[in-house]
Amino acid sequence: MFKLKLAAIAVATLGMHAAGAAEVEVLHWWTSGGEAKSAAELKKMVEARGNKWKDFAVAGGGGENAMTVLKSRVVSGKAPTAAQVKGPSIQEWGAEGVLANLDSTAKANNWDGLLPGVVANVMKYKGSYVAVPVNVHRVNWMWVNPEVFKKAGAEVPKTWADFPAAAEKLQKAGFIPVAHGGQPWQDFTVFESIVLGVGGAKFYEDSMVKLDPKALSSPTMEKVFDTFRSVRKYIDKDAANRDWNLATAMVINGKAGMQFMGDWAKGEFTAAGKVPGKDYLCLAAPGTEKSFTFNIDSFIVFKQQGADAPKAQSDFAAAVMSPEFQEVFNLNKGSIPVRSGVSMAKFDDCAKTSAKDFADTAKGGGLVPSIAHQMAVPAATTGAIQDVVTSFFNSSQSSKDAVAKLAAAAKTK
Ligand code: GAL
Repeated sequence: MFKLKLAAIAVATLGMHAAGAAEVEVLHWWTSGGEAKSAAELKKMVEARGNKWKDFAVAGGGGENAMTVLKSRVVSGKAPTAAQVKGPSIQEWGAEGVLANLDSTAKANNWDGLLPGVVANVMKYKGSYVAVPVNVHRVNWMWVNPEVFKKAGAEVPKTWADFPAAAEKLQKAGFIPVAHGGQPWQDFTVFESIVLGVGGAKFYEDSMVKLDPKALSSPTMEKVFDTFRSVRKYIDKDAANRDWNLATAMVINGKAGMQFMGDWAKGEFTAAGKVPGKDYLCLAAPGTEKSFTFNIDSFIVFKQQGADAPKAQSDFAAAVMSPEFQEVFNLNKGSIPVRSGVSMAKFDDCAKTSAKDFADTAKGGGLVPSIAHQMAVPAATTGAIQDVVTSFFNSSQSSKDAVAKLAAAAKTK
């Protein structure tokens, strides 16, 4: 991640930052309507336990901006109390020697008993908890405005082969078929659902997780790029650099027919007072109904000095894993609780479907980590593959060329 050994710098100067002792400064990128409501619940929970919340929000969907700011803060010895970091990046931060050990909090609150093994392992560095999980987002969703499809006489696509006919009808009826934000992470989010929908869960595992050169340069991957190119015909001309939540708003207000996005988009429908099954449909991205692409938000906790720091950090981690927080946060965020023992009674049908599918795919196969959301491979490899995907989407590159570039990018360490 970065060569500079941070441990000596960070620990030596962290104390100044924790002068407020019981202050809890949290870096995140939850700045859209639904996300901000969720973050506000975290603030309430931290303050309810007697600590002072210091918000460190860095706008930019997908978190790239936030990660840049985080690195500069840590290198300058001013790490926040906690930061939204996920997947393999937790190992990279763990190796820097700057993370607090959360084992005592985890043990006191039975995290090993409450978390699925696949989740607990991601939160540990060399067997110790260094991160606390917040939720389970599902990425392979398609958000549909049924009114738009009805007006256009279009069928919701069940496979990517059905997609062009549906999109044509929407376009002919004067609607924007696909609401999209032209940002690399959003292009990548659509791409990964096409890998899953065209190739299936095993192909996704082989290509996006194991980075198997055969899978990456296969005819199936060429077909994925062909399909990905077909999506580009059906986004609008103003998509460049549009934030994801503004694309969601296009489906909410009936300008567009569908959006391929994770279920943080549901947080926007919820914040707009929309009802699933009536105002919108939450459906699996074409060809992916038997699979579940998981994206688990989590917070790493940095070593802090100052007498009250350990208690404030333990309070923070325990609050995030509490049933109360897991319910109220995820109701707003569009995700589902990450731990067992949380009633789903207040959750809507989309969340209940997600919870069922998460359990079923964990047991029977089809549960895969989102590469676009930093769950599958190290950050440098994710970035290199994302660059290939987004430059293909924004150029006239052939699928053959893209496949060759993909196989090369996958070697980036
Ligand atoms: C994801 C993150 C979600 C949401 C989304 C849009 O990477 O896990 O919580 O913030 O980005 O920014």
